[in-house]
Amino acid sequence: MTEEIKNFKKKLSSIKINNEKELESFRLEYLSKKGLISSLFSKLKQVSKENKKFVGQQINEVKILANEIYDLSKIKFSSSDSNQKFEDYSKPIKILKLGSRHPISIVKNKIIDIFLKIGFDISEGPEIEDDWHNFTALNLPEYHPARDMQDTFYINKNPDWLLRTHTSSVQIRHMENNKPPIRTISPGRVYRNEDISARSHCFFHQIEGLYIDNNVSFVDLKQTLLHFTKELFGKNKIRLRPSYFPFTEPSAELDIYWGLNSEADYRITKGTGWLEILGCGMVDPNVLNNCGIDPKEYSGYAFGLGLERIAMLLYQIDDIRTLYENDIRFLNQFSKSI
Ligand code: PHE
Repeated sequence: MTEEIKNFKKKLSSIKINNEKELESFRLEYLSKKGLISSLFSKLKQVSKENKKFVGQQINEVKILANEIYDLSKIKFSSSDSNQKFEDYSKPIKILKLGSRHPISIVKNKIIDIFLKIGFDISEGPEIEDDWHNFTALNLPEYHPARDMQDTFYINKNPDWLLRTHTSSVQIRHMENNKPPIRTISPGRVYRNEDISARSHCFFHQIEGLYIDNNVSFVDLKQTLLHFTKELFGKNKIRLRPSYFPFTEPSAELDIYWGLNSEADYRITKGTGWLEILGCGMVDPNVLNNCGIDPKEYSGYAFGLGLERIAMLLYQIDDIRTLYENDIRFLNQFSKSI
């Protein structure tokens, strides 16, 4: 049956209607009570219960297509008829399908909202970066081993160019061009030369945050992250685990207590109840120096998180690739979220 519908669709899209007479035969053949589309609908009875919904939707799409062809041709012929000057406003309107936001955009907007409310602004930068902004200014000089942590796509034409591996590069640009106090979040797409699998992809999206002012301390970082966790996940138990990033000192990983209330909780937290959410730390004085900010006068914190990971958690998506396939059936599930 699906094959039949497919062929039907193909046939429909190739039809040419040249005049009003042909338009009427089109209507009789396809759209009338005894027309082909009605007969397709009557065949739905033979379809098995589990396929009915899917096949029904497909026939509906065919019907919408046929109606569109009919309506468009009708407008064409009636507008060339000089007697018919007025549109008939009493005719029923055509209902257009509403789109929906992509889950990555939904999560991005939610996070942006949380930080805008506490005084952060938004900064953006280029996806093709130079070595200075992506690495060297972030305390990763040329032969630093931690460069390997971020498998990088370089650009052949110019060895100094690369696809940014994180949006920390935007923080550098922001510090170079602004004086403290700085409170900014940088959302954007980043690239890493990783194998594509259910859990990783060669590009993903990040939001990084940066706060520089007099006397900013680790306590400020912790309180801000606690606030963020409460707002986004409705969870209020967090822990900061010591970690390493070249651009922060000390560095930490934020875990939130997700709980162990369901089988899925056991699976995603590997039985511990804890989930790693983001990397963070106090901006290394070398980084401040590199951007012309005096570390004796100012201090600050930074953090960075991957949006895909958060979207997958919040919407129980278990394969990152579904986020990029643009399958309408997947995307429509988010039409109720804002
Ligand atoms: N830039 C880090 C990454 O992409 C995240 C991070 C940002 C960690 C800021 C600490 C501070 O993995």
